[in-house]
Amino acid sequence: MKLGVNIDHIATLRNARGGVEPNLVEAAKIILKENIHSLTMHLREDRRHIKDNDLYDIKKLGARINLEMAAVEEIQKIALDLVPYSVCIVPERRLEVTTEGGLDAASQTDYLKEYIKPLKEKGIIVSLFIDADFKQIEASKKAGTDYIELHTGSFSNAFLSGNYSKELEKLKNSAAYAADLGIKVNAGHGLDYKNVYLMKEVPNLCELNIGHSIISKAVFIGIKEAVREMLSLIS
Ligand code: PXP
Repeated sequence: MKLGVNIDHIATLRNARGGVEPNLVEAAKIILKENIHSLTMHLREDRRHIKDNDLYDIKKLGARINLEMAAVEEIQKIALDLVPYSVCIVPERRLEVTTEGGLDAASQTDYLKEYIKPLKEKGIIVSLFIDADFKQIEASKKAGTDYIELHTGSFSNAFLSGNYSKELEKLKNSAAYAADLGIKVNAGHGLDYKNVYLMKEVPNLCELNIGHSIISKAVFIGIKEAVREMLSLIS
């Protein structure tokens, strides 16, 4: 199983001060030295974390960019110009804190089919971020996507309560069904250092896209050294 690292929240932190630190490109360089498959970046319509220039700066590093994007014309234009390795179409609501729920591919199958056509013609791999639901998988197939990314948010929330078997079963059944239909399967959202081992039970998973838990962990791995370095500078 491959790992895609979502670097949005390095940009969230940078934007909090409006400057350049923490530097997204320098962070990406460190991550790219590891055996990861892609760097995931969500260009939101409100640009709350990743900005347009970030995409081009990271592409220059030779990274496989997995661009998360809403199915809107403005972002499609950028994707066609950038030509990332892959795009993942996600639902987007301006007031949400993060991507809540999967894309309703079933209610907009024809629109999505037309929307992803030019992206595929450019050789960009297309994925749809959907809930573990057979109806959505069938619609994704009709829309002509290469991949789906199963939304693991419900599973991750259920894991916190200890009662996750139903949600895990849904992921397993959905991944198997998608593979039967010839669709490749990724997964992500809310995966962390405690629950990720259960993804090994989900068949046919190609890649996990993980962000928040990795960036959170990085704070704790680095904070002792960061404080010590500052203390030594002022002592
Ligand atoms: N996959 C998709 C499609 C997402 O929208 C997100 C959140 O940006 C993730 C994966 C990563 O989720 P998390 O930050 O909870 O690991």
